[in-house]
Amino acid sequence: MTITQGHGIDDDTRLAQKYELWDEMPEGYREAAARIASFQALAELVGVLPFAEWLDRAPDFERKQMLAAKIQDEVGHGHVTARVAEDLGVPREQILSDFAEGRSKLLNIFHYRFETWEEIGPAALLMNSSAIVQFQALDKGTYLPYARALRKIEKEESFHYHHAIDLTHQTMTLGTPEQRALAQRSFETWLPRLLAYFGPPDTDTYQQNPMYTFGLKVKSNDQLRQEWLTKIVPVFRDLGIQVDPDLARFDEDLQEWVYAAPDWIEIKRILNEGGPMLAHWRAHIAGTLERNGTYRDIALEGVPA
Ligand SMILES: [Fe+2]
Ligand SMILES: [Fe+2]
Repeated sequence: MTITQGHGIDDDTRLAQKYELWDEMPEGYREAAARIASFQALAELVGVLPFAEWLDRAPDFERKQMLAAKIQDEVGHGHVTARVAEDLGVPREQILSDFAEGRSKLLNIFHYRFETWEEIGPAALLMNSSAIVQFQALDKGTYLPYARALRKIEKEESFHYHHAIDLTHQTMTLGTPEQRALAQRSFETWLPRLLAYFGPPDTDTYQQNPMYTFGLKVKSNDQLRQEWLTKIVPVFRDLGIQVDPDLARFDEDLQEWVYAAPDWIEIKRILNEGGPMLAHWRAHIAGTLERNGTYRDIALEGVPA
């Protein structure tokens, strides 16, 4: 039995009791599970938009196919996680309208667009690898329909991860010096964003958070961040990307990764007020909801007489 430090109950106890949709759940559990699934559904769907903008501009047919496949997968992830939320009482339309009308927030990494094609490989590699680390922890969580959805999603995320490696490798081996510099800059721009994606540093009381005591959140933000850095930095080095030790380095004395802390004040501002693309994505989702309204009504209520 592993004993966690501090105030929490031990992990084996915290994660032992699993729930199916029809099981009796502790007070607040259903809402917490719905929140985590609907939050992910939104992230999967809006997370498509920066990539979809590049479909027409992909440099060749093979890349276009890969990008189209990734986009389809991500929309599928949105459906699968929205379905989990829906079963728990949050309609999928609400997930989108809450976003379109400004009632829900978006993860910090989805507030941007890609300025160049060369930016996409390293950014997607950072995004996919961090999603995989997150999901591989979350799939040990206590809500079984969500855990099953994640295990399905992970298989496709692994494909995206390899696509991102391939794309970055192509730029770093066949690209011009300018293109390689763009990939390098992408890594430096996106690394702090992805460090922040794991959430704020652990506090002394993180184990009292209901998401954590319910076993919906499995590991702490700092644990996941470290785990991810340990895995991903060597991958970038192998691809020929320089990892500035001021940005991230392994400290032999501490036996852990030290990294330049993201600008948490700026991250908080982006989460609250929105980054450069938030308004654009909101308008896009609002427009889609409106355009598809007639079809949705027919699907839900039947063809009008
Ligand atoms: Fe996904
Ligand atoms: Fe993905």
